[in-house]
Amino acid sequence: MYLQKLDVHGLRNLKQIQLSLSPGANLLYGSNGSGKTSVLEALYLLGRGRSFRTRTLSPVINHDADNCTVFGLLHKEGKEIPLGVSRSRQGDFLFKVDGEPVTSASSLAEAMPLLILNSDSFHLLDGGPQFRRQFVDWGVFHVEHNYRNTWQRFRRALKQRNSLLRRDRIDEALLGVWDAEFVSLAEQINHYREQYLADLMPRISEVLSELSPLEGFEFKHYAGWDNTKNLSDVLLADRQRDLQGKTTHHGPHRADLRVRFNKQPANDLLSRGQIKVLVTAMQVAQGYLYHEKTGCQCLYLLDDLPSELDIEHRRKVGGLLYRLGAQAFITGVVREDLRSSWPEEDKTIRMFHVEHGRIAQE
Ligand SMILES: Nc1ncnc2c1ncn2[C@@H]1O[C@H](COP(=O)(O)OP(=O)(O)O)[C@@H](O)[C@H]1O
Ligand SMILES: [Mg+2]
Repeated sequence: MYLQKLDVHGLRNLKQIQLSLSPGANLLYGSNGSGKTSVLEALYLLGRGRSFRTRTLSPVINHDADNCTVFGLLHKEGKEIPLGVSRSRQGDFLFKVDGEPVTSASSLAEAMPLLILNSDSFHLLDGGPQFRRQFVDWGVFHVEHNYRNTWQRFRRALKQRNSLLRRDRIDEALLGVWDAEFVSLAEQINHYREQYLADLMPRISEVLSELSPLEGFEFKHYAGWDNTKNLSDVLLADRQRDLQGKTTHHGPHRADLRVRFNKQPANDLLSRGQIKVLVTAMQVAQGYLYHEKTGCQCLYLLDDLPSELDIEHRRKVGGLLYRLGAQAFITGVVREDLRSSWPEEDKTIRMFHVEHGRIAQE
């Protein structure tokens, strides 16, 4: 799967661009503020319905425009599928997949799975557990079709349970009903995650061993409760704490993927460059596993790949993505730093020069 065409209107300084894309590497170079990250933002908007830079869309829309529109032509399993996203300053949105309007961004994600590596990816190590849950859930969502539904039902049960905990008088019977639902869905979610991680963790180790000579990494999944015990017993034992805090302290919404290096939290020991290598390995491993499980490819967005990575590591990352065969959008300031990141032999590569919101293909 890859994107053949990308049209962007009114997104940041990209007033109007039209790109014809390579199914492999698309390398975008240009000086600071030229619009490189904005191209990735446009792609992200197409695959997720939102920005990775801001919560609200208003700052993303070009100063002189009322809305921004991104259109893409996807090549998937021999078919051409148009995708479109339009968002206005007033908050209106229109998402279309194959000519049909869709109401949720997860339909876009299903049509065009994408993985991103940018400065926020450091949060995979230095951020809270939610970043690592998102990382794991990206994979589970894309390979396990029941996951979205199970997760939505779980969120509902969690919300109900928390609202019961907030009441002045506890309704034991009702709490019992929601607890049963909560526990059953929590166990399903944990099962899906553990199954997925059993496949993912060895892939991460493989990719990491190609990228880094360091040994001694350890990944450990925490279910969100001590899962040597029954979750219902854990809930019962912690009922008082839940009532005092008016929230549910145990469950898959509290899960984590703990990353250690030489028995200590990896973030405490590694340099920025080493962390970038580690998070890159994690994301590349996801793409490999996704391909293995589904036969499809996801798109990679790599913002400023050269920063913090030396030439040797850049080449290794480029080589891994080239071998995977995934479409990649890679940005950087210096043309040569980008070109040298991707295997010389690849003839399908496209270079784009970004300048003041305009893009010229070489
Ligand atoms: N809403 C907007 N309308 C117009 N220009 C914008 C808007 N938001 C940001 N910009 C400008 O768009 C440019 C795009 O920046 P960016 O894509 O981050 O550049 P790069 O990644 O190449 O450094 C910047 O020069 C910024 O000032
Ligand atoms: Mg940028």
